[in-house]
Amino acid sequence: MGWNEVTFRRTDPPVTSLRPLDTAAAKPNSLSSRYGMGVQPLHTDGAHLPEPPDFVLLMMEETSQVPTLLWKAKIIDYQRLSYLDLQHGVFLVNNGGESFFRTAASGLDLCYDPGCMDPCDERSRRAAAFFADAAKSAVEHHWDEPGKVLLINNRRVLHARAAAESEPDREITRIAFSVGEGSE
Ligand SMILES: [Fe+2]
Repeated sequence: MGWNEVTFRRTDPPVTSLRPLDTAAAKPNSLSSRYGMGVQPLHTDGAHLPEPPDFVLLMMEETSQVPTLLWKAKIIDYQRLSYLDLQHGVFLVNNGGESFFRTAASGLDLCYDPGCMDPCDERSRRAAAFFADAAKSAVEHHWDEPGKVLLINNRRVLHARAAAESEPDREITRIAFSVGEGSE
């Protein structure tokens, strides 16, 4: 299909196993370093990369009481005035020596992660508030059967892990993909 596996950090393997971590144990600039085992904010995976992956595949061998939260913009969201804030508000993306600026929306594509993106102007502050509010309408994906798989369109759908303090051993496998040119 022309899909390529994407790594998030140079030292990461393409297939990673994710566990809830408290703030002290987490890697710097990761969501866990800011939010620990509590509920994560809605985010795009790989938002610290100039080209975030197109798709994120999550798999769980066991079951879990901790759902994955999903949020997709509705047509009406694109028509709202607040969508201009997403298109024009400037964020600083913190990525060490390779930090850069980006907006949270480009056409229909969204890219947002408050773990690594800091608002730089009034519009981006409103955009951050928009996504915080969007969390209220997120839907829950339940890992209620062993071996479930979830494929997320990482450009259009934001996701988050619900609070996981009760399940420190929750383990999820993630593979991210970019879709090669000409293979769509
Ligand atoms: Fe994520």
